Amino acid sequence: MDTTAQYNEKVVRQFTIMTIVWGVIGMLVGVLLAAQLLWPALNGGVPWLSFGRLRPLHTNAVIFAFGGSGLFATSYYIVQRTCHTPLFGERWKLPAFTFWGWQAVIVGAVITLPLGLTQSKEYAELIWPLDILITIVWVVYAIVFFGTIAQRKMKHIFVANWFFGAYVITIAVLHIVNNLAIPVGLTKSYPIYSGAIDAMVQWWYGHNAVGFFLTAGFLGMMYYFVPKQAGRPIYSYRLSVVHFWALISIYMWAGPHHLHWTSLPEWAQSLGMVFSLILLAPSWGGMINGIMTLSGAWHKLRDDPIIRFLIVSLSFYGMSTFEGPMMSIKTVNALSHYTDWTIGHVHAGALGWVAFITIGSLYALIPKLWGREQMYSIPAINLHFWISTIGVVLYIAAMWIAGVMQGLMWRATNADGTLTYSFVESVEATYPYYAVRLLGGILFFAGMLVMAWNTWMTVKPQREPADETAATATA
Ligand code: HEM
Ligand code: HEM
Repeated sequence: MDTTAQYNEKVVRQFTIMTIVWGVIGMLVGVLLAAQLLWPALNGGVPWLSFGRLRPLHTNAVIFAFGGSGLFATSYYIVQRTCHTPLFGERWKLPAFTFWGWQAVIVGAVITLPLGLTQSKEYAELIWPLDILITIVWVVYAIVFFGTIAQRKMKHIFVANWFFGAYVITIAVLHIVNNLAIPVGLTKSYPIYSGAIDAMVQWWYGHNAVGFFLTAGFLGMMYYFVPKQAGRPIYSYRLSVVHFWALISIYMWAGPHHLHWTSLPEWAQSLGMVFSLILLAPSWGGMINGIMTLSGAWHKLRDDPIIRFLIVSLSFYGMSTFEGPMMSIKTVNALSHYTDWTIGHVHAGALGWVAFITIGSLYALIPKLWGREQMYSIPAINLHFWISTIGVVLYIAAMWIAGVMQGLMWRATNADGTLTYSFVESVEATYPYYAVRLLGGILFFAGMLVMAWNTWMTVKPQREPADETAATATA
């Protein structure tokens, strides 16, 4: 039986298009922020264009709008294909509700954040009415996703779905626990936690947002699209099982590495450090499993730009999950914390891993969704690959050098114990690196524009052959 006709691809197509739209918008704001760090007066005196308000707009737009829409699109596509059944809840329009609901959350963010309405919790800035909307949309998402798994036509649950499943459940738990608050007005609330406990809950959330939103969800994408595009089975099924359980059980404990040298109890900081170090093993297990899936088909790296996006994303995943455990060592963190090294680490993961795996997966997905043989222009995918690779490398190399330099300048002391450099001197020394980062960001953003054009050319309604015949006849 051909089940293809029954699959709900409309919602997948909608989320796919919005992934690209929000990617372009979120990264444009990123470029503006990078420019503002070079030229602070660039907000033109307009408060809602100031760095402090646009920064959370950038993080929310790239993580939840771009990354989130990409995860909705691919999880909905993959769960249907691998369970051989259409999405659950179609009768009650639940999948469509998640699409419009999620877009409403994002539009809410785009309005409130520039107005300066925020809870002041990083990656959980949105005010309480929007948090409630997120909760409702997410619960419906869980019903659609697990309902589809429950009505699957085979016994086996494909590994990508475990990762998506863990991401859906954990994000619900993290979001609800971290946002427990007492509203005191439509746009203002107070968290139920205080002091060090509030900080601990926030970074338990923050780190697991990295672990389950920016990692587990995208690993789900990886476990489907890498074998598909390589035309080979996953390198080791057993490794994927070990990788899954180890990753989800260790991530939970690593949050305190964001609070080294603070008033958090010493033992909690050390616990976070130890679990972060252990986290290297499952992370690399996943990376190796993905990269080795290509063994025997390495030539595809030369011939297929989509595979190149997917495999390079895994290399960046490996790199950032090596760097993260190193930065979690307390003595290393004493140097890296508060510096641009952290920003370099973030974007090695965010651009190199999250954006690359999403871009590669969408290039594989788009022709299938619109019934085309392939993307409109393969040279344009190649161009996108190279400019964004150069962009990431410029971005993270500049931030590494700037970060280590800042850390060393801030801690340098003279023989009499006074500071060798003033803070302003460290800012001045950072300028050239901010210029390089801006250039890297512009290149990455330009790549997104190329993708948007290529996607439009692929999906735009094609002329019917009948029209062409008529046109020829008239001529
Ligand atoms: C084994 C895996 C990883 C470990 C142990 C780890 C560890 C760390 C450490 C120690 C910091 C610095 C905390 C600080 O000094 O404030 C950090 C920051 C960060 N990492 Fe990772 N990291 C890992 C993987 C990743 C990946 C793959 C991504 C992105 C996809 C990522 C995103 C971030 C973000 C967004 C921050 C900044 C948080 C903030 O202060 O706003 N990390 N990570
Ligand atoms: C053209 C691409 C991008 C550019 C130019 C860019 C630029 C920036 C800039 C200038 C900042 C502020 C840094 C600071 O405060 O010193 C920032 C922060 C951040 N960006 Fe991006 N970004 C881009 C893409 C992305 C993507 C795709 C993601 C995630 C998927 C991302 C995630 C983040 C995060 C999590 C932070 C906060 C980091 C922290 O607090 O430690 N960015 N970005």
